Amino acid sequence: MSLSSTPDGVSVAPRHLTFDVADDLKTLWFGNDVFRTAFFNALSLQFPEGEQQFIDAVRLYRDRIDDPKLAAEIRGFIGQEALHSREHRHYNEALKARQYDVDAIDRRFNRHMKWVKKLPPSRQLAGTCGAEHYTAVLANAILRHPEWMDDAAPTMRRLWRWHAIEETEHKSVAFDVYRHCVGNERLRRVVFLFVTFNFFKFTFLNTCSLLKSEGKLWSVSTWLGGLNFLWGKPGVLRACVPEILAYFRKDFHPWQQDNRRLLEASLSELDVNGTRA
Ligand SMILES: [Fe+2]
Ligand SMILES: [Fe+2]
Repeated sequence: MSLSSTPDGVSVAPRHLTFDVADDLKTLWFGNDVFRTAFFNALSLQFPEGEQQFIDAVRLYRDRIDDPKLAAEIRGFIGQEALHSREHRHYNEALKARQYDVDAIDRRFNRHMKWVKKLPPSRQLAGTCGAEHYTAVLANAILRHPEWMDDAAPTMRRLWRWHAIEETEHKSVAFDVYRHCVGNERLRRVVFLFVTFNFFKFTFLNTCSLLKSEGKLWSVSTWLGGLNFLWGKPGVLRACVPEILAYFRKDFHPWQQDNRRLLEASLSELDVNGTRA
Protein backbone atom coordinates (compact mmCIF):
# COMPACT_ATOMS: atom_id res chain seq x y z
CA MET A 1 0.00 0.00 0.00
CA SER A 2 1.27 3.44 -0.90
CA LEU A 3 2.41 5.78 1.85
CA SER A 4 0.69 8.61 0.01
CA SER A 5 -2.84 9.50 1.01
CA THR A 6 -3.39 12.09 -1.70
CA PRO A 7 -6.70 10.91 -3.19
CA ASP A 8 -7.41 9.90 -6.78
CA GLY A 9 -7.91 12.82 -9.09
CA VAL A 10 -5.45 15.10 -7.28
CA SER A 11 -1.96 15.53 -8.61
CA VAL A 12 0.82 17.54 -7.00
CA ALA A 13 2.88 19.40 -9.59
CA PRO A 14 3.88 23.05 -9.95
CA ARG A 15 2.31 25.41 -12.47
CA HIS A 16 4.73 27.91 -13.88
CA LEU A 17 2.59 30.99 -13.50
CA THR A 18 3.86 34.50 -12.94
CA PHE A 19 1.85 37.41 -11.60
CA ASP A 20 2.55 41.02 -12.41
CA VAL A 21 1.32 42.58 -9.20
CA ALA A 22 3.68 45.56 -8.87
CA ASP A 23 1.07 48.16 -9.87
CA ASP A 24 -1.69 46.65 -7.73
CA LEU A 25 0.58 46.64 -4.69
CA LYS A 26 1.04 50.40 -4.97
CA THR A 27 -2.65 50.62 -4.06
CA LEU A 28 -4.98 49.39 -1.32
CA TRP A 29 -5.64 46.49 -3.66
CA PHE A 30 -8.28 44.80 -1.50
CA GLY A 31 -11.41 46.89 -2.04
CA ASN A 32 -9.51 50.07 -1.12
CA ASP A 33 -9.73 48.77 2.46
CA VAL A 34 -6.66 49.44 4.56
CA PHE A 35 -7.16 46.57 7.04
CA ARG A 36 -7.99 43.82 4.56
CA THR A 37 -5.08 44.86 2.34
CA ALA A 38 -2.72 44.92 5.35
CA PHE A 39 -3.94 41.55 6.63
CA PHE A 40 -3.31 39.73 3.35
CA ASN A 41 0.00 41.54 2.85
CA ALA A 42 0.95 40.49 6.41
CA LEU A 43 0.38 36.85 5.42
CA SER A 44 2.41 37.24 2.25
CA LEU A 45 5.34 38.64 4.25
CA GLN A 46 5.67 35.29 6.04
CA PHE A 47 5.54 33.11 2.95
CA PRO A 48 8.98 33.23 1.30
CA GLU A 49 10.91 32.23 4.40
CA GLY A 50 8.12 30.08 5.80
CA GLU A 51 7.72 28.06 2.63
CA GLN A 52 11.47 27.62 2.27
CA GLN A 53 11.44 26.15 5.78
CA PHE A 54 8.64 23.73 4.76
CA ILE A 55 10.84 22.56 1.87
CA ASP A 56 13.91 22.20 4.11
CA ALA A 57 12.00 20.22 6.76
CA VAL A 58 10.60 17.73 4.22
CA ARG A 59 14.03 17.40 2.59
CA LEU A 60 15.44 16.23 5.93
CA TYR A 61 13.35 13.08 5.52
CA ARG A 62 12.96 12.54 1.80
CA ASP A 63 15.74 9.89 1.64
CA ARG A 64 13.65 7.65 3.85
CA ILE A 65 10.72 7.64 1.43
CA ASP A 66 10.99 4.79 -1.06
CA ASP A 67 7.35 4.84 -2.06
CA PRO A 68 7.32 6.14 -5.69
CA LYS A 69 3.97 7.97 -5.41
CA LEU A 70 4.90 9.85 -2.23
CA ALA A 71 8.43 10.51 -3.56
CA ALA A 72 6.91 12.09 -6.70
CA GLU A 73 4.56 14.15 -4.55
CA ILE A 74 7.49 15.39 -2.46
CA ARG A 75 9.10 16.63 -5.69
CA GLY A 76 5.81 18.30 -6.65
CA PHE A 77 5.45 19.82 -3.17
CA ILE A 78 8.98 21.27 -3.29
CA GLY A 79 8.33 22.67 -6.78
CA GLN A 80 5.02 24.25 -5.76
CA GLU A 81 6.39 25.82 -2.58
CA ALA A 82 9.50 27.09 -4.39
CA LEU A 83 7.30 28.89 -6.94
CA HIS A 84 5.01 30.29 -4.22
CA SER A 85 8.10 31.53 -2.44
CA ARG A 86 9.36 33.18 -5.63
CA GLU A 87 6.07 34.92 -6.43
CA HIS A 88 5.61 36.13 -2.84
CA ARG A 89 9.19 37.42 -2.83
CA HIS A 90 8.31 39.62 -5.83
CA TYR A 91 5.06 40.55 -4.10
CA ASN A 92 6.86 41.58 -0.91
CA GLU A 93 9.53 43.49 -2.80
CA ALA A 94 6.78 45.46 -4.56
CA LEU A 95 5.29 46.42 -1.18
CA LYS A 96 8.27 48.75 -0.67
CA ALA A 97 6.64 51.11 -3.18
CA ARG A 98 4.13 52.02 -0.43
CA GLN A 99 6.99 52.95 1.93
CA TYR A 100 6.43 49.88 4.10
CA ASP A 101 9.51 48.88 6.07
CA VAL A 102 9.62 45.40 4.54
CA ASP A 103 13.26 44.91 5.58
CA ALA A 104 12.48 45.43 9.29
CA ILE A 105 9.53 43.02 9.05
CA ASP A 106 11.79 40.46 7.32
CA ARG A 107 14.47 40.81 10.01
CA ARG A 108 11.92 40.13 12.76
CA PHE A 109 10.66 36.97 11.05
CA ASN A 110 14.17 35.87 10.11
CA ARG A 111 15.18 35.81 13.80
CA HIS A 112 12.28 33.44 14.49
CA MET A 113 13.09 31.22 11.53
CA LYS A 114 16.72 30.93 12.61
CA TRP A 115 15.43 29.51 15.89
CA VAL A 116 13.12 27.09 14.02
CA LYS A 117 16.04 25.78 11.95
CA LYS A 118 17.90 24.79 15.12
CA LEU A 119 15.07 22.54 16.34
CA PRO A 120 15.40 18.76 16.01
CA PRO A 121 14.21 17.50 12.57
CA SER A 122 11.11 15.82 14.03
CA ARG A 123 9.93 19.15 15.47
CA GLN A 124 10.70 20.99 12.26
CA LEU A 125 8.59 18.50 10.33
CA ALA A 126 5.79 18.62 12.93
CA GLY A 127 5.91 22.43 12.63
CA THR A 128 5.63 22.15 8.86
CA CYS A 129 2.57 19.88 9.19
CA GLY A 130 0.98 22.40 11.57
CA ALA A 131 1.73 25.38 9.33
CA GLU A 132 0.50 23.44 6.30
CA HIS A 133 -2.74 22.86 8.17
CA TYR A 134 -3.18 26.63 8.48
CA THR A 135 -2.48 27.16 4.80
CA ALA A 136 -4.88 24.33 3.87
CA VAL A 137 -7.69 25.72 6.03
CA LEU A 138 -7.23 29.26 4.72
CA ALA A 139 -7.00 27.89 1.19
CA ASN A 140 -10.25 25.99 1.58
CA ALA A 141 -11.97 29.13 2.89
CA ILE A 142 -10.68 31.26 0.00
CA LEU A 143 -11.80 28.69 -2.58
CA ARG A 144 -15.16 28.08 -0.94
CA HIS A 145 -15.97 31.78 -0.61
CA PRO A 146 -14.82 33.45 -3.83
CA GLU A 147 -17.16 36.35 -2.99
CA TRP A 148 -14.86 37.37 -0.13
CA MET A 149 -12.37 38.60 -2.68
CA ASP A 150 -14.84 40.06 -5.17
CA ASP A 151 -13.57 43.57 -4.65
CA ALA A 152 -9.87 42.65 -4.74
CA ALA A 153 -7.79 43.62 -7.78
CA PRO A 154 -8.22 40.79 -10.37
CA THR A 155 -4.52 39.82 -10.59
CA MET A 156 -4.21 39.75 -6.79
CA ARG A 157 -7.31 37.59 -6.55
CA ARG A 158 -5.90 35.22 -9.15
CA LEU A 159 -2.56 34.97 -7.29
CA TRP A 160 -4.24 34.14 -3.99
CA ARG A 161 -6.54 31.60 -5.63
CA TRP A 162 -3.62 29.90 -7.45
CA HIS A 163 -1.79 29.62 -4.15
CA ALA A 164 -4.93 28.28 -2.42
CA ILE A 165 -5.40 25.62 -5.12
CA GLU A 166 -1.85 24.30 -4.80
CA GLU A 167 -1.95 24.38 -0.98
CA THR A 168 -5.02 22.17 -1.24
CA GLU A 169 -3.40 19.79 -3.71
CA HIS A 170 -0.35 19.17 -1.52
CA LYS A 171 -2.01 19.44 1.90
CA SER A 172 -1.21 15.86 2.96
CA VAL A 173 2.35 15.53 1.59
CA ALA A 174 4.29 16.74 4.67
CA PHE A 175 1.71 14.97 6.84
CA ASP A 176 2.29 11.62 5.10
CA VAL A 177 6.07 12.02 5.46
CA TYR A 178 5.62 12.81 9.16
CA ARG A 179 3.29 9.87 9.71
CA HIS A 180 5.75 7.46 8.12
CA CYS A 181 9.04 8.86 9.49
CA VAL A 182 8.11 10.34 12.89
CA GLY A 183 4.59 9.22 13.68
CA ASN A 184 4.43 10.83 17.13
CA GLU A 185 0.82 12.05 17.47
CA ARG A 186 1.44 13.85 20.74
CA LEU A 187 4.36 15.81 19.30
CA ARG A 188 2.26 16.71 16.24
CA ARG A 189 -0.42 18.26 18.44
CA VAL A 190 1.89 19.95 20.96
CA VAL A 191 3.92 21.57 18.19
CA PHE A 192 0.66 22.80 16.66
CA LEU A 193 0.11 24.94 19.76
CA PHE A 194 3.45 26.67 19.13
CA VAL A 195 2.68 27.03 15.43
CA THR A 196 -0.68 28.58 16.31
CA PHE A 197 0.89 31.07 18.70
CA ASN A 198 3.57 32.10 16.22
CA PHE A 199 1.25 32.25 13.23
CA PHE A 200 -1.09 34.68 14.99
CA LYS A 201 1.77 36.59 16.58
CA PHE A 202 3.55 37.33 13.31
CA THR A 203 0.34 37.95 11.36
CA PHE A 204 -0.70 40.46 14.04
CA LEU A 205 2.71 42.15 14.28
CA ASN A 206 3.03 42.40 10.49
CA THR A 207 -0.49 43.81 10.19
CA CYS A 208 0.34 46.41 12.87
CA SER A 209 3.60 47.39 11.11
CA LEU A 210 1.76 47.90 7.81
CA LEU A 211 -1.09 49.84 9.44
CA LYS A 212 1.48 52.04 11.16
CA SER A 213 3.00 52.95 7.78
CA GLU A 214 -0.50 53.79 6.57
CA GLY A 215 -1.01 56.05 9.62
CA LYS A 216 -3.90 53.82 10.73
CA LEU A 217 -2.41 51.88 13.64
CA TRP A 218 -4.53 53.79 16.18
CA SER A 219 -7.62 54.17 14.00
CA VAL A 220 -10.59 52.67 15.86
CA SER A 221 -12.71 52.46 12.72
CA THR A 222 -9.94 50.56 10.90
CA TRP A 223 -9.73 47.98 13.69
CA LEU A 224 -13.50 47.67 14.03
CA GLY A 225 -13.76 47.10 10.28
CA GLY A 226 -10.98 44.52 10.52
CA LEU A 227 -12.63 42.76 13.43
CA ASN A 228 -15.86 42.63 11.47
CA PHE A 229 -14.04 41.18 8.44
CA LEU A 230 -12.35 38.48 10.56
CA TRP A 231 -15.02 37.70 13.13
CA GLY A 232 -18.31 39.35 12.12
CA LYS A 233 -19.44 39.48 8.53
CA PRO A 234 -18.15 37.61 6.55
CA GLY A 235 -16.03 36.38 9.51
CA VAL A 236 -13.09 34.98 7.57
CA LEU A 237 -11.32 33.67 10.69
CA ARG A 238 -14.48 32.62 12.53
CA ALA A 239 -15.40 30.39 9.57
CA CYS A 240 -12.04 28.63 9.87
CA VAL A 241 -12.10 27.85 13.60
CA PRO A 242 -13.79 24.40 13.50
CA GLU A 243 -11.40 23.20 10.80
CA ILE A 244 -8.38 24.58 12.66
CA LEU A 245 -9.40 22.70 15.81
CA ALA A 246 -9.91 19.43 13.93
CA TYR A 247 -6.11 19.13 13.91
CA PHE A 248 -6.23 18.21 17.60
CA ARG A 249 -8.21 15.03 16.91
CA LYS A 250 -6.11 11.92 17.42
CA ASP A 251 -7.17 10.47 14.09
CA PHE A 252 -6.91 13.76 12.17
CA HIS A 253 -5.95 13.61 8.52
CA PRO A 254 -5.94 16.54 6.03
CA TRP A 255 -8.17 14.75 3.50
CA GLN A 256 -10.93 14.15 6.04
CA GLN A 257 -11.91 17.50 4.59
CA ASP A 258 -12.48 16.12 1.10
CA ASN A 259 -12.64 19.26 -1.03
CA ARG A 260 -11.77 17.67 -4.38
CA ARG A 261 -14.89 19.03 -6.08
CA LEU A 262 -14.12 22.54 -4.92
CA LEU A 263 -10.58 22.08 -6.19
CA GLU A 264 -11.81 20.97 -9.62
CA ALA A 265 -14.23 23.87 -9.91
CA SER A 266 -11.56 26.35 -8.78
CA LEU A 267 -9.07 24.95 -11.30
CA SER A 268 -11.43 25.40 -14.21
CA GLU A 269 -12.06 28.98 -13.11
CA LEU A 270 -8.32 29.70 -12.79
CA ASP A 271 -7.85 28.56 -16.41
CA VAL A 272 -4.33 27.25 -16.20
CA ASN A 273 -4.40 25.04 -19.28
CA GLY A 274 -0.99 24.44 -20.71
CA THR A 275 0.89 25.96 -17.79
CA ARG A 276 1.48 22.76 -15.87
CA ALA A 277 5.13 21.83 -15.42
FE1 LIG B 1 2.63 27.62 -0.58
FE1 LIG C 1 2.10 24.41 1.44
